[in-house]
Amino acid sequence: MVPDDLIELDLPATGSIKRALSRWAQAERRDLPWRRTRDPWAVLASELMLQQTQVARVLPRYAAFLERFPTAASCAAAPAGDVITLWAGLGYNRRAVNLHRCAVAVVSDHGGQLPDALDALLALPGVGPYTARAVLAFAFERDVAVVDTNVGRVLARLSGRPLTAKDVQRVADSCVPRGEGWAWNQGMLDLGATVCTKRSPACERCPVRRWCAWAGERGPDPAIGSASVSAGQSRFEGSDRQGRGRLVDVLRRDGAVPAVELAGACGWPGDHERAGRAAESLVADGLATWAGGGVLVLPL
Ligand code: ADE
Repeated sequence: MVPDDLIELDLPATGSIKRALSRWAQAERRDLPWRRTRDPWAVLASELMLQQTQVARVLPRYAAFLERFPTAASCAAAPAGDVITLWAGLGYNRRAVNLHRCAVAVVSDHGGQLPDALDALLALPGVGPYTARAVLAFAFERDVAVVDTNVGRVLARLSGRPLTAKDVQRVADSCVPRGEGWAWNQGMLDLGATVCTKRSPACERCPVRRWCAWAGERGPDPAIGSASVSAGQSRFEGSDRQGRGRLVDVLRRDGAVPAVELAGACGWPGDHERAGRAAESLVADGLATWAGGGVLVLPL
């Protein structure tokens, strides 16, 4: 039976869509290391890395990370600075701090094992709706829908209109074939990453093109302005984020940066005020700490 809310959202052929997508997902599945494990800690680490970083960049870092931190307990026992150091090349360094805080909470509140309930996962530091559902689907093989910006885009295009965040999660949840949560969600991510891409979708290769409200006409993209679909990352060149990233890179390399060298480390020679603000913001985010004598260091 087709649920009413899907009819409202103009996805009439849910059964056919599910079958076509399941077949395609199985045939085209990308072989990725985090898909060969069901270890919740490894899945959590991979999903945090993948949230804002391309698969190709994540691949080598994922292996190195798990070699150094094979369990939540091993991560929790290390200084946050070690996690930040291993995060080199992934960007958005706050995710490293979040992962470390999460590991500490998993050890103190859950005996070192990630919980398998949505509310308990959501209560962990740095774990939002996407990550919590990704752990449930990809580690515990639960039939929940994993919704990121790619999945939001696919569903908005299929429905032919921008969707609210609630709509996206509801449609996505009602699409997951029973008992196939793991494969279905990996397939949706594959479809969004390789076919229904943001800028140049390959509709001619799409397994659900026949039922897609947008592919036939290609009018204005319904994904634009849809909740759950990000507008893209903001400008990096010349941004505060760039300066903060450079400063963290120098901390990784040298371990410490004296106050007088902050501006140079940020790539803003002479602009001590701006560099001071960047350093303070790193401290506020848990990415750095002040040692004695006005020297900035990685957190202990
Ligand atoms: N992006 C986010 N999660 C992913 C996964 N499990 N596989 C591939 N790309 C992803």
